[in-house]
Amino acid sequence: MIVVLDFGSQYNQLITRRIREFGVYSELHPHTITVEEIKEMNPSGIIFSGGPNSVYDENSFRADERIFDLGIPVLGICYGMQLMTMHFGGKVEKAKHREYGKAEIKIQEAKGLFENLPTEQTVWMSHGDLVVEVPESFEIVATNPSCPIASISNEEKKLYAVQFHPEVRHSIYGNDMLKNFVFNACGCKGDWSMENFIEIEMEKIRQEVGDRKVLCALSGGVDSSVVAVLIHKAIGDQLTCMFVDHGLLRKGEADSVMKTFSEGFNMNVIKIDAQDRFLNKLKGVSDPEQKRKIIGNEFIYVFDDEAKKLDGIDFLAQGTLYTDIIESGTATAQTIKSHHNVGGLPEDMEFKLIEPLNTLFKDEVRALGTELGIPEDIVWRQPFPGPGLGIRVLGEITDEKLEIVRESDWILREEIKKAGLDREIWQYFTVLPDIRSVGVMGDARTYDYAIGIRAVTSIDGMTSDWARIPWDVLEKISVRLVNEVNNINRVVYDVTSKPPSTIEWE
Ligand code: XMP
Repeated sequence: MIVVLDFGSQYNQLITRRIREFGVYSELHPHTITVEEIKEMNPSGIIFSGGPNSVYDENSFRADERIFDLGIPVLGICYGMQLMTMHFGGKVEKAKHREYGKAEIKIQEAKGLFENLPTEQTVWMSHGDLVVEVPESFEIVATNPSCPIASISNEEKKLYAVQFHPEVRHSIYGNDMLKNFVFNACGCKGDWSMENFIEIEMEKIRQEVGDRKVLCALSGGVDSSVVAVLIHKAIGDQLTCMFVDHGLLRKGEADSVMKTFSEGFNMNVIKIDAQDRFLNKLKGVSDPEQKRKIIGNEFIYVFDDEAKKLDGIDFLAQGTLYTDIIESGTATAQTIKSHHNVGGLPEDMEFKLIEPLNTLFKDEVRALGTELGIPEDIVWRQPFPGPGLGIRVLGEITDEKLEIVRESDWILREEIKKAGLDREIWQYFTVLPDIRSVGVMGDARTYDYAIGIRAVTSIDGMTSDWARIPWDVLEKISVRLVNEVNNINRVVYDVTSKPPSTIEWE
């Protein structure tokens, strides 16, 4: 196992992720971890991540310095290199200019981290300080004109340090450097897989929960489904899942969730029919943010009310991913939309949290779901927002409008799947703007709703482009929508990217 110590770099989880991709288990830990705790984990190697501090700042992050006496190989990245330098008596200074972006390095000798790699290569730099004096017993192994000490090492003690970021894809041979560290210096084998992750996490869950009970809010989305199945595998019926039907779900969704988990996985799932509660609260409300707040809050009230009826629950399981943590951690980011996550924790509920996915990225969660035997249509399900169809009926929500969105969304999903585009397009759905227009059907004038199709390609939902759905597929969808869905006489296709638009219309 490789332990990565977190000094606050935005790339730190990427390091553990790259190493797991090599088939070597890796965990990210706070830099405050003690040597005793590290010893207990018995790692084959330790990596110090980068970080925003300067090593000379009064409150800069430090690590337990006894780590260097353990005899375990250490790789220091950026800030990590500077800490290592300070510890061994070298010198770090502020750079004249902050360096950010691609840089060319020259390698003195292709050994250690650089074994079998080209002697000239491109790396990704992002630093304000740099090493100006190499500690005794270390040697310079790579240089760059504006950062002459780009990498140092003490081969005998297996201590390595780089000023740049090998974990970032722009460092062309970055992965190879990490591999050299993990396999050559640390002697790891590369036999770890998602199967081991399941075993390790199940054991952790069992240890933590003991014979107590866990509650999980199941939405039928990938994340909550994977969490629920993983925990169920670990502790069986000590887990209760709660599935809230807020009346804003897609066609067939509630039945399919119940069927998959309650029957398929034999899990204890309580379905809460709360349609009336939600729809009554939403009556007459047309402001998007107000709608979102009502749905988010109501979810918490329903969850709270229902959880109180259950006895002796100590833990709440959530499908929080690593990316959720990064996004909510951006204190300076403006609220564009107040996101509501099904399973959001009511503040006054006294549960302990279990979040077994909080070190994983979405594609790792999908791999985990597949390994756990979760059906493909759930593992590859497109994202669906917590407020559901409530933000796809623009303006006031009525039963009639919900029905139009539900039926049209069903047809769109069918046709996208038939065309084999369901994996290629990241998210696709219909929206009902509050507009009517004139049409003609069977020689008669109509005055009916226009429906919008939104289909986007994206990696993480933060930015997106509109999907180039082939004309013939669009045509089929359009014909079916006006013929099969009542009260629609016009279909429009949204051709805006994000930014400047957002993916959802509200
Ligand atoms: P926007 O509309 O902000 O959406 O471009 C980006 C992604 O987030 C989804 N989304 C939500 N997901 N709760 C969620 O769990 C929400 O309140 C919410 N609002 C938007 C959206 O579907 C897209 O995938």
